[in-house]
Amino acid sequence: MIKENKLLLHITVVVAALSVGLCNVQPPVVNPSVLTQSKSLGECQACKLFIDSFKNGLERTARGKYEGGDAAWEEEKLKKSYKRSEMRLIDIQESICKESKHSVQCHHMAEKAEEFIEEWWSQNPDESEDLYTYICIEKMQVCCPKFHYGKDCTPCPGDHEKLCSGNGKCRGDGTRKGNGTCLCDAGYTGVNCDQCASGYYLAYKDDSKMLCSLCHKSCMGGCRQGTQKDCVACKPGFIFDSDEGCLDINECDEPNKCTKDQFCLNSIGSFACMNCDKSCNGCHGDGPDMCRKCAKGYSKKGEFCIADREDEDQSEKLTTTRYMTYVGLLIATGILLPKSTSLGSLVGAMVLSYIVGAEYYCMINGHTGLVNLKDFDLIQLFRT
Ligand SMILES: *[C@@H]1O[C@H](CO)[C@@H](O)[C@H](O)[C@H]1NC(C)=O
Repeated sequence: MIKENKLLLHITVVVAALSVGLCNVQPPVVNPSVLTQSKSLGECQACKLFIDSFKNGLERTARGKYEGGDAAWEEEKLKKSYKRSEMRLIDIQESICKESKHSVQCHHMAEKAEEFIEEWWSQNPDESEDLYTYICIEKMQVCCPKFHYGKDCTPCPGDHEKLCSGNGKCRGDGTRKGNGTCLCDAGYTGVNCDQCASGYYLAYKDDSKMLCSLCHKSCMGGCRQGTQKDCVACKPGFIFDSDEGCLDINECDEPNKCTKDQFCLNSIGSFACMNCDKSCNGCHGDGPDMCRKCAKGYSKKGEFCIADREDEDQSEKLTTTRYMTYVGLLIATGILLPKSTSLGSLVGAMVLSYIVGAEYYCMINGHTGLVNLKDFDLIQLFRT
């Protein structure tokens, strides 16, 4: 039995190793931007994250640690003592900022706020109290109340209900930063955000509200309304037509816009030169079916330029290697089968699923191989 187990182990290892090597699929490339921190936060926002995380911790530990005590009175007593205990605070702090996307900045804030949190905790706090106000505004002094800005939390100027005409916010609102002037939303400008920015037109206005909308994308230097007929002037890449307004120029109508290994692709307001497929020698579009002539080493088959013999040989070689491995595995199963039916059929099942798995893997990764699993009769294979 020990011997059989060893054999089983061997086969498992071989199968695992083979499934990595046999069809040369490249590992997925990790996008480096995933690894770098995204845009950094202001101090006030970091404090906000920290407080949110702390509140999550309070919630998570609210039910106590000692549920299921022997007697109800005992459980009650333990719960009460845990509620205000150092241990609960540690439990909360252990997983602080873990859920946050900006965990580095959140942790940094957590460290700085630690003494204030401990002070608050030791004073037997009321959990319903506004911890954000206490920590971020009063103690850490990185935030201000809403509609206040700057070092001393100065009130934003003007009517707080309609700050910056309702089309912007006061710079530094809610933080210790900024100077209280209006930061207008996109499309608005002016000290009080009561004018349309360039490239926008006044779409609506009454006593309490104004609305600026974006000019048509073919316009340059403003517009009267939103269509391409309302432009003051046309952007480069567009031409003025007295009936239709600003129209896209199809740059690709002009001959020889791109080099001879490229084709021209028109887009609204512009165009691009794209490289031909590698099977082409000159083309009028993307793909091996758009060639003017075939490149060296390729020849025309119907609409397509197909690689000559050489490349096929290589992929065939790979496929042959894979086949031979399967045969080897099947022979191993054949040797094992008479010795132990149960073990043999187990290994047989493993080999079978390996073959199907490997072929499927190659297929979904776009490798030429055998598979067309559809017309590949596995049962036939095992009858022999
Ligand atoms: C307020 O700050 C903004 C941006 O930081 C700046 O452009 C503007 O000139 C400042 N205004 C005043 C009155 O200091």
